[in-house]
Amino acid sequence: MSGISNITKSKFKIAIIGLGYVGLPLLHLSSKHFNVVGYDKDTYRVNSLNNLYDQNKQIKIKDLKDLKNKKIISSNENIIRNCNIYIITVPTPIDSRNQPDLKLVKNALKTILKFLKDGDLIILESTVYPGATLELSKKIIEKNSHFKINKNYYLGYSPERINPGDNKNNLNNVTKVISASNKKSLKIVKSFYSKFIKNLYVAESIEIAESSKIIENIQRDVNIALINELTLLFKKMDLPMKKILDASKTKWNFLNFQPGLVGGHCIGIDPYYLAYQAKRIGAKSNLILAGRKINNLMINKVYLDISNCINKIKLTNKANILFLGLTFKENCPDFRNSKNIALFELLKKKYKNIFAHDPYVDQNLKIKYKNNLTYRLDNFKKYDFIILAVKHNQYKNLQKKFGQTSVYDMKYFYKNSTFYL
Ligand SMILES: NC(=O)c1ccc[n+]([C@@H]2O[C@H](COP(=O)([O-])OP(=O)(O)OC[C@H]3O[C@@H](n4cnc5c(N)ncnc54)[C@H](O)[C@@H]3O)[C@@H](O)[C@H]2O)c1
Repeated sequence: MSGISNITKSKFKIAIIGLGYVGLPLLHLSSKHFNVVGYDKDTYRVNSLNNLYDQNKQIKIKDLKDLKNKKIISSNENIIRNCNIYIITVPTPIDSRNQPDLKLVKNALKTILKFLKDGDLIILESTVYPGATLELSKKIIEKNSHFKINKNYYLGYSPERINPGDNKNNLNNVTKVISASNKKSLKIVKSFYSKFIKNLYVAESIEIAESSKIIENIQRDVNIALINELTLLFKKMDLPMKKILDASKTKWNFLNFQPGLVGGHCIGIDPYYLAYQAKRIGAKSNLILAGRKINNLMINKVYLDISNCINKIKLTNKANILFLGLTFKENCPDFRNSKNIALFELLKKKYKNIFAHDPYVDQNLKIKYKNNLTYRLDNFKKYDFIILAVKHNQYKNLQKKFGQTSVYDMKYFYKNSTFYL
């Protein structure tokens, strides 16, 4: 058979579909070694990148220049013509009923199908439930064409583990799990990723690789839920969770999780993917969903706790409050599904003089919160109460400047804050 298994590495032509947090760094790294192109359906994103602006702040301007000069980023799907490897890095959200919304992966497969040739390879990097890669490709590729897996085309799955905002663990130094539909295609998947990623781990099947990714995020979600439940329980006993955790974590095998809000597009979403698949096959996912429920309820509990603390120090609804951090996590400009924004919204309804600060605040938020945003990190005296919601680096050394103002520390970021979650 002709196609990818017979061509040499130098002849690989790779298409990356979806140039967001996952796709763009992959395009950047792989473009140093391969003939690769990037397609994103969002013309605004593509124009920004070609104008040397990455709103996710992952890629340096000089590297964007390099991609621009190579003319390899486009919102015209024709750019993926003549490729033989297609890598899908599009979002996998949930719908309003917490069911997987796989529309974007399906659309990406439909686009690929227009250009697919005998022997080509499709790799999915988006997070999905076990079995989804094969299920979706059968549904979209095989139902609508003559292509049959391992006969006319191949499949691969390689979950992404990047952690935006984390300078230590990045795409080329973190072990990457790879898998493929047969030995031939696994060889290709391996020779592609091994060129720019130090350590690869070969999973025996695509389903094992899919499962490995989803349980990484479920493990975090459930552990955070446990700590959240314990935090609320100890609050009722008037016992400080921070100090309890400080003591517990001196044990060598105590897992160092902290309480908090679980937002973003992965940890709070992926458990629903596995729960969905569990239901389909008649299996249980009680603990997984209990974790979700606890973490979802946490926002109201934090809101009430903050209100109680404000009452405790005899402040009124007119208090001047500073809210530090709106992104869903630290040091990354990602506001998707941010529970910190949701918490700020709740507080804003009650406390009219609340002002949010975030170093990454974007145009949408600037417009939305026009009168409730501050860009300054000084003159803390004017605030009666400060809430630290996100531990951005910019907030590290602020505590000494807060003076007498009471601080509610949701992230255990400062020593000796007035209140902790
Ligand atoms: N961001 C992370 O830290 C991270 C880490 C590990 C895994 N993941 C997973 O990786 C996947 C991608 O996440 P992300 O954060 O990179 O998403 P993102 O929203 O940052 O980027 C996705 C891009 O895909 C584009 N896109 C959507 N549908 C398309 C289509 N049919 N054709 C072409 N382009 C399309 C969008 O315009 C967008 O620019 C998700 O499954 C996510 O769960 C993300």
